[in-house]
Parts: sequence; C-alpha cells; structure tokens
Amino acid sequence: EKGGYPHFMLKEIHEEPDAVRRCISPRIRDGKIELNIPGLPNETLAKTERIHIVACGTAMHAGLVGRYAIEALARVPVEVDIASEFRYRNPVLGKNDLVVLISQSGETADTLAALRLAKGRGIRTLAIVNVPGSSIAREADDVLYTWAGPEIAVASTKAYLVQLSVLYLLAVKLGSLHGELSTEKEQQLCSDLLEMPAKIQEAIDGEPDVLACAEELKNAQHVFFIGRGVDYTLCMESSLKLKEVSYIHCEAYAAGELKHGTISLIENGTPVIAVATQPSLYPKTVSNLEEVKARGADVMLVCDKDAKVEPDLTKNLLRVPNVDNILAPMVTIVPLQLLAYHIAVLRGCDVDKPRNLAKSVTVE
Ligand code: F6R
Repeated sequence: EKGGYPHFMLKEIHEEPDAVRRCISPRIRDGKIELNIPGLPNETLAKTERIHIVACGTAMHAGLVGRYAIEALARVPVEVDIASEFRYRNPVLGKNDLVVLISQSGETADTLAALRLAKGRGIRTLAIVNVPGSSIAREADDVLYTWAGPEIAVASTKAYLVQLSVLYLLAVKLGSLHGELSTEKEQQLCSDLLEMPAKIQEAIDGEPDVLACAEELKNAQHVFFIGRGVDYTLCMESSLKLKEVSYIHCEAYAAGELKHGTISLIENGTPVIAVATQPSLYPKTVSNLEEVKARGADVMLVCDKDAKVEPDLTKNLLRVPNVDNILAPMVTIVPLQLLAYHIAVLRGCDVDKPRNLAKSVTVE
C-alpha cells in the first residue's frame, strides 16, 4: 500500500505532481479558470468585498499563501484566522464577504465550528476540502474539492500543495473578475499553473541535495526559519513540519523581526534556514542572514536557480526551479517537506505517526 516507499509521508510527497495536475487541469480551459461553483457565480465573486480564510495547522498556512496570492492578483482584502481563534473572537463579517474554510479531512472540529458560525450569520461559505462527503464539505454552501486522493501520513504534505493550487485558481479567477488581470496575464498564469506539476517534479528530483542537508541538521536541538512576505509563511509551514515529525524545536520568524528580540537566541552553531524566493525582498533577507551568521549561526538558504548567491554566504544551499514569483511557494515547500522527512528518518522517529498527534482532530 505504500507503493514501494518506506513511509506514507515520502509516498505522498512523491504524489504531489499528479495530485496538483488532477486538481488544476480540469479547472482550466482555453486559458481561463473555470471553477463552476454553483452558489458563487461570477457576479457574486465579482462583488466579494473581503475574504476570511479560516483553518487549522497546515491548512491555515496554505491560507496564508492564499492571502498573498489573492491580495496581489485581485486586490481583495483577505484575513486569515486560526479556526479556534476565529470561533471565539466574534469576528466582524460583512454581507458581501466570503468565508473560506480549508481542511484536508473536512472533519476538524474548530474549522467546522467556524463554518457554522459564518453560516449562522448568513455569510456565504466556501470549503476547500480533500475528503469527499466529509462534514465540512456537506455543510458549506459550496465546495471546491482538492482531489489529492487519501492522505495517510499525519503530517500533511500533498494536501497543502493542492490547497495552494485551489487558492491560486481562486486568486486568478478573482483577479480577472475584479478587473485586476488582463486576459493575457490570466492566460499566462493559467499556463504557468499547468506547468506546476513538472516544476514540482523537478523540485522532488533535487532530493539528494536535501538528504545531504538533513545529515547536517539531524542532531540539531533548535532550528530557526526566517523569511519575508510569502516566504515567511513557508517558514511557518516548514517549521511546523520539521517539529512535528522530528521533535526538534523549531521557530519561524519574519526576518525583519529578528532584531526585535529573537536574535539574542543565536549562538555558535545555531542552525538558521532562510527562505528567499522573492527578488524584491531577497537582499533584505540575505542581510538578515548575514547578521545571524556574524553571531555564529550555521546558515542555509533556500532560493531559486537564478538568485545570485555570494560564494561564502551559506554553508548549505537548496535551489528550487524557477517559476513566476507569485507561484514560488508551490515549488519551494517541496525541499522543505523532504528535509523534515529525512531529518525525522535519520533521527529514528515514527514519521507517519508522530507522538501525541492524530490525523483528524475532531475535538476542540
Ligand atoms: C500538520 C497537519 C495539521 C493539519 C490540521 C488541520 O502536518 O497535518 O496541522 O493541517 O490538523 O487538518 P485538516 O486539514 O484536516 O482540517
């Protein structure tokens, strides 16, 4: 059942190109996005004033990428909430708002409660769900299925990738309906999205480099991830993945926040992983990397193939395939998932079933 792989987590990472293809290609026709959401016709989407994305854990991290994409492409304001916070904070919801729930299992108690709260207020709800017929899928006004097939490993990997895929499709659709994207730009993004499975495969093919980094990090006691903008959201997801499967203490910081406190934790040999895929922010993140390096950190950089990296800047370098900047998260997360996996294996952890965790959290 593991298809020759030693663990479901590794099998599921290797399934990402196919899962993303299944999720994206039926929803693009002739250079246009076709979401076919019965309760959300184009006129309604065009009038959406604000989007609230609500989810837990990895699904919430996908939502954070979704916020960058939707705000950049459609200029529609997006808030992202942790479901267990949203449900108790009496959120301000407007009648032309849309509440988007993201859940692999479709059974997460807090996400379901957030959905019921929004529905109770008469606000339209859209669920992005993997498991067909699950509670969240049944109760939401509309569903966009991610079609990734079953995800068995407790740590979510391919589900995150297909959640990103749906969010990008939604972002491009909203961008064109809100008059922010020209037909040519929409066509370009559609063709870039159709190429993502091949790019993700290319990222997976870089596994030997990741394994070498895993060897170096396997005895770490703490790992810090730093990044800016959308790369910061990837840091949060990478940090969660690494801590949950390897039991190494990990933290993700917005790179610009380091000097407001966290940098005091950096000492000789502290591993710091910087994610820098956005050209406009690259020099800023690199300068933060230099600051921690000057304080003794062992630094590693994740960036794209074209980034100019000073020869002695980092000890370890992971390069990801070049894609449109906005889509970079889809390829960048791949080596970081593989890194978490390989470190956990090297440490002898129960990768598919980390201690104290359940695949589906049906109690709050
Ligand atoms: C982490 C992980 C969890 C889930 C979270 C939400 O690897 O898998 O953080 O993402 O429990 O689960 P779903 O998506 O089923 O609502």
